[in-house]
Amino acid sequence: MQTKRKRELKWFPLAVGAGLVLAAAGLLVTVLFSEEIFPEYSPAHRGLQVARESGCFSCHGEGPQQGSPNPTPKSSPVRFSAVPSMFDERLTVEELLQWIADGIPEEKAQSGSFMASREANTLRMPAFADQLSAPEIADLSSYLALMQYRVSVATNPSPSKGEQLARQYACFSCHGELGQGGIHNPGSLKGYIPGFFGTDFRALTRNGDRQDLHQWIENGVSDFFINQGFAGFYPGQFFNERQAIKMPAYKDLLTDTDVTLIVDYLLELLEAGPLTAEAILEYRPLASSTHAARNPESGASDTTESPGVQGPLFAEATQILENHCLKCHGPEKQRSGYRLDYLEAAFKGGEIAQFVEQAAIEPGDSIRSLLIRFIEAEEEDPMEEIYPMPPGDNPRLSLEQIETFKDWIDAGAQWPSGRKLNPTQKIE
Ligand code: HEC
Ligand code: HEC
Ligand code: HEC
Repeated sequence: MQTKRKRELKWFPLAVGAGLVLAAAGLLVTVLFSEEIFPEYSPAHRGLQVARESGCFSCHGEGPQQGSPNPTPKSSPVRFSAVPSMFDERLTVEELLQWIADGIPEEKAQSGSFMASREANTLRMPAFADQLSAPEIADLSSYLALMQYRVSVATNPSPSKGEQLARQYACFSCHGELGQGGIHNPGSLKGYIPGFFGTDFRALTRNGDRQDLHQWIENGVSDFFINQGFAGFYPGQFFNERQAIKMPAYKDLLTDTDVTLIVDYLLELLEAGPLTAEAILEYRPLASSTHAARNPESGASDTTESPGVQGPLFAEATQILENHCLKCHGPEKQRSGYRLDYLEAAFKGGEIAQFVEQAAIEPGDSIRSLLIRFIEAEEEDPMEEIYPMPPGDNPRLSLEQIETFKDWIDAGAQWPSGRKLNPTQKIE
């Protein structure tokens, strides 16, 4: 017994020593080659990870609209409300940080009516200040800002043509929203699809060389990337062939002018670098009323808060919605997953809009707005996904009301920031 223990004790320091040497060597390699070894994540990309680990999605849902039901006591007029979406385009960076850290922003906590309805709900926003570090909270808010952005870009004509093309041609599906870091890619050099920023992007495009960028987009790979090699070994070729997901060649889909617009846009993103929440909300190139209200000095205020916002068109349009639509598309019931009581949801549409990849309300373009097709439809056409609204025995809208709606949309579908509508009809 005794001798055996002694032998073990003699080996122990040696094992520890060897372990330490190995760990030190590992650390050195990691420090020296970290850029080459590890994927390069943007704040928003890391924030998504934190959101997954912190259970944000279990209450708020994955998408921009759905959240878990939030029951209230029997005495309350509303038996079930819903946890709001995490992606609220009205929130500023400061408010995002406060929601996550404190469970409620200071200003909200002072509103008696808000606190009363919050108290009545079963689920409340937890405060994460003790669970998450300040950098983690900052990353989370970058992720939330990025997703708020997506919601608003989809509903407003973006002045940046390159960004519009990038979105239309699915660049963000692989490279991440706004090129902020893409999906996993088994078999590729670093195991993921890089974003449109940082060291990886610079390495793959020779520091944003315009000709290289044209080649990547037109051919799905650049000549430089594929042809650089030594002693008969071509790493670019090797990884390009081996990776599970390959970059599509866009030369038959995009004109030369389109590609140039996208290249300009990519260089703009490269210049901006990995986007923080502040940068995302500042960068947003929208003429959205809420954005201008939040950043009066941002210079994007030209078309916003025009008289039409509070004008008669909005008042008439909302009255129609409140009287004829909200009982099925409001806070209580969301037929087809569609709510018409606040801007983001009303513009975006529900399950059908998602299926046909069209916005319910396309500001400035009533012809392309699904909602208009539905209120004008004479009869149901399931093959074309068209359903007359309001359905069944509910009275249809008059021609005048339909015209009012079209005029409002064609004039830009102005909707005062933060305004929520309330159903005036009985909920059936
Ligand atoms: C237990 C359920 C629950 C969890 C988990 C949760 N939330 Fe919330 N959250 C809520 C509720 C409920 C509200 C509405 C405000 C209230 O009543 O507290 C809310 C509100 C918010 C808001 C404000 C939304 C708006 O439109 O004003 C944000 C932003 C938010 N949560 C982000 C997060 C993030 C990020 C996480 C993960 C770190 C998270 N939430 C985790 C329930 C939750
Ligand atoms: C199906 C997924 C997919 C789509 C869609 C896609 N790419 Fe890529 N892209 C890739 C892959 C994979 C690579 C190779 C990355 C590597 O070799 O590590 C790549 C590489 C690139 C590169 C080289 C630099 C970098 O950061 O990766 C550029 C630039 C690029 N893509 C631009 C675009 C643009 C612009 C679009 C839209 C017009 C687009 N991509 C659409 C998958 C995609
Ligand atoms: C009695 C309930 C009811 C009323 C009232 C109603 N809808 Fe609907 N709505 C539905 C149902 C159900 C669907 C799903 C399609 C179907 O099955 O008919 C739908 C779908 C829609 C959609 C497609 C949403 C999607 O999935 O993208 C739009 C747009 C729409 N309605 C607009 C309106 C408008 C505008 C009004 C008021 C003028 C209105 N609806 C009134 C029940 C209603």
